[in-house]
Amino acid sequence: MSSFPHFLLVVFTLVSPACGFSSMTTPPPPPPPDSSSITRRSAIERFERVAISPLVAAVVVVTATATTIPPVVDASDVVDVVGGGTSTPGSISTSTPISASWSAIDGLNTLESSSSTGGGGVGKFVSFDDSAYRAMINDKSRTPQFEAAIISRLNDVDRTGGRGPSSQVVLDLGTGPYAHFAIIAARAGAGKVYAIEASRSACESARIAVRDAGYDDVVTIIEGYSTDVALPGNERADFVIAEIVGSVASEEGVVATITDAHKRLVKDPNDASSWIPRGVQTYASPASYSLHNLFLPPAFDWTKLDGSPVRFNCRDEGLQLLSDPIAVEDILFADMGRGGYGGAGGGGREVRSRITFVIDPKRVEENAKKFNDEYVRGRVPDASSLAITAANSVTGIALWPRLILDDDVTIDSRHHPDGGHRRSHWQTVLPIMSPIPVTVHGGDEIIVDFDFDLPYEVTSPPSYKIAGNVISSVARL
Ligand SMILES: C[S@@+](CC[C@H](N)C(=O)[O-])C[C@H]1O[C@@H](n2cnc3c(N)ncnc32)[C@H](O)[C@@H]1O
Repeated sequence: MSSFPHFLLVVFTLVSPACGFSSMTTPPPPPPPDSSSITRRSAIERFERVAISPLVAAVVVVTATATTIPPVVDASDVVDVVGGGTSTPGSISTSTPISASWSAIDGLNTLESSSSTGGGGVGKFVSFDDSAYRAMINDKSRTPQFEAAIISRLNDVDRTGGRGPSSQVVLDLGTGPYAHFAIIAARAGAGKVYAIEASRSACESARIAVRDAGYDDVVTIIEGYSTDVALPGNERADFVIAEIVGSVASEEGVVATITDAHKRLVKDPNDASSWIPRGVQTYASPASYSLHNLFLPPAFDWTKLDGSPVRFNCRDEGLQLLSDPIAVEDILFADMGRGGYGGAGGGGREVRSRITFVIDPKRVEENAKKFNDEYVRGRVPDASSLAITAANSVTGIALWPRLILDDDVTIDSRHHPDGGHRRSHWQTVLPIMSPIPVTVHGGDEIIVDFDFDLPYEVTSPPSYKIAGNVISSVARL
């Protein structure tokens, strides 16, 4: 059954006191989870524990607001008419602006820099609760792949010069409370394993995990931000495991962390085989969102999210992509010492790029069927016409991560390359870029500028801005 893990967070953020929940004939939903304590990984588990069917509540809301459906923005609402360009004879092009901006820590747990022994000064950093850490460990599309990559790297004869795993010094950067990858490296015969962790409580648990596994003679836990600590005796690692990858790949500070690790923590940082993963990417595609088409003004005010994205389970059919995905971040760890961010803007911490997405008519058609299924299951009135409206609309640019572990081994949070739904603890991040959905048709273009600010200070959260226009060609009357 499809789930809407984003549902309650969204509804309770958007709903105004006058929206009519009091007039519901079904019991009101349970209190909303505290959005400030929802991390990218714990959100999935929290929402799956909530018993209410989202669309049951949705039906009530739709009934109460039926007269407002479906006021998507379409060509007739558009003020800015552009000439020439993409328009064909007998048609005019209309341009509808869309935009969103947010900080990496918006809506996520944070660790204050002063709460770590290694920290100092003021700053905030994405952090995790127990359920989030468990979701990572239990992610069958992630953890076994990392384990295999660690064992393979330790046994790589080219890398060890035939001296075997015991010749290798390994650094697990961001080890978490289970020190899982550090223990895997120790079990596979690594000579020495260092494990750095910023969270004090995670460090305490990691020490216990290492002791219980019987590897405290091999694994040394170091508390603090990696940017503030050194390995004992200023030793450097042969290779680094760094699963510090966000649902927007850069949002957990990977650029700051890996750039610093290049200088002080790794023997041969420009060698791609010194890193697991070798690189991380963020893929993007414009997306339609079923609830954006159901919950409409005046009852629901999406601007209350203030740019903060909605985070979806990657299997959630309530979000459908409108065109083939394109990489907007391509971060190769071996290149980071040269300031190389790669991909989108290239070469620096201010990353800008312009991308044109073309709406795929086949996707629109398929999406209408999937939205129809959702709405029918939820007993939404007039499901089929609402499904067509939703499929012909864009809410924002969806983002999700991809990890390159080895040349031919990747971890895909959504199916690659088509961006299809699949199980992952990572989420699909969808900034709501217009108060109401914008109408699109097959062949329309969405031209957006990505403006990502990725500080070199690990406790300065990255910030993201996406802004552009939906260019729609409509027949001249
Ligand atoms: C996504 S979790 C991964 C935990 C564990 N390695 C795993 O894969 O299951 C990332 C962890 O890295 C820590 N972390 C991220 N960047 C760090 C840094 N620069 N220094 C120290 N710890 C960091 C976070 O506190 C968090 O515990």
